[in-house]
Amino acid sequence: MSFKDKIDLNKLPKHIAIIMDGNGRWAKQKGEHRIIGHQNGVQSVREAVEAAAEIGVQYLTLYAFSTENWNRPKEEVMALMQLLVSTIHSEVKTLNKNNIRLLAIGDLKNLPSDCFAELQDAIKATAQNTRMNLVLALSYSSRWEIINAVKQIGADIEKGKLKITDITEHLFENYLCTASIPEPELMIRTSGERRISNFLLWQLSYAELYFTEKLWPDFRKEDFFEAIVDYQNRESRFGKISEQIEE
Ligand code: FPP
Repeated sequence: MSFKDKIDLNKLPKHIAIIMDGNGRWAKQKGEHRIIGHQNGVQSVREAVEAAAEIGVQYLTLYAFSTENWNRPKEEVMALMQLLVSTIHSEVKTLNKNNIRLLAIGDLKNLPSDCFAELQDAIKATAQNTRMNLVLALSYSSRWEIINAVKQIGADIEKGKLKITDITEHLFENYLCTASIPEPELMIRTSGERRISNFLLWQLSYAELYFTEKLWPDFRKEDFFEAIVDYQNRESRFGKISEQIEE
């Protein structure tokens, strides 16, 4: 029996977030340059998107480039940006054919102009799609996002649009990049690392965390389905005791 057959479609997470990790190690194991790892990671992106859409996940967020990634060697940063531009460009048709909407979160104005333009075009071209939302986290880090939200709230207080007493969790969420996106119930990280690494710190408060040894370029649909089966075998209490949790 495949993992896909074991999934209870009535208990699917609405939103799954993935830290795609291990491209560099995958390439090193094969004696290849790191960028070959990233290039092979694109097929895993396709697999994850297809798998999520196939079963009816509504939001899939992929950590494609962190704020910290800007510190990598210039050559690798440029190659990654080029890969992002070309992948986004070539996948727009497939996204539209499959009714998938593309969104992006992060400090997008820091992206090279061609990357930013390609991204905006793809976001516009897929804006009417309704089957699934694919969210790319680009030049993203959670601490940046939280500080950015605090600055905007401060500015709105200065302008007299807000009072300090108006600040609630709900209001704060509206200032995050993920304002209209539900919280992920499941976060997957590949490559055996067991950290959140500055990814969706606020939004992952109650998420189940799933870690697999698989390196990202080896990640396939069945690995995605396995993570969902594992998630469905857990019980989330949100601070309650078992008896308080409705079936
Ligand atoms: C982490 O592996 C991976 C990245 C920083 C980049 C991921 C990007 C892609 C797979 C291209 C995706 C394209 C789209 C359109 C989403 P690492 O380099 O940190 O690996 P290591 O930890 O083994 O060095």
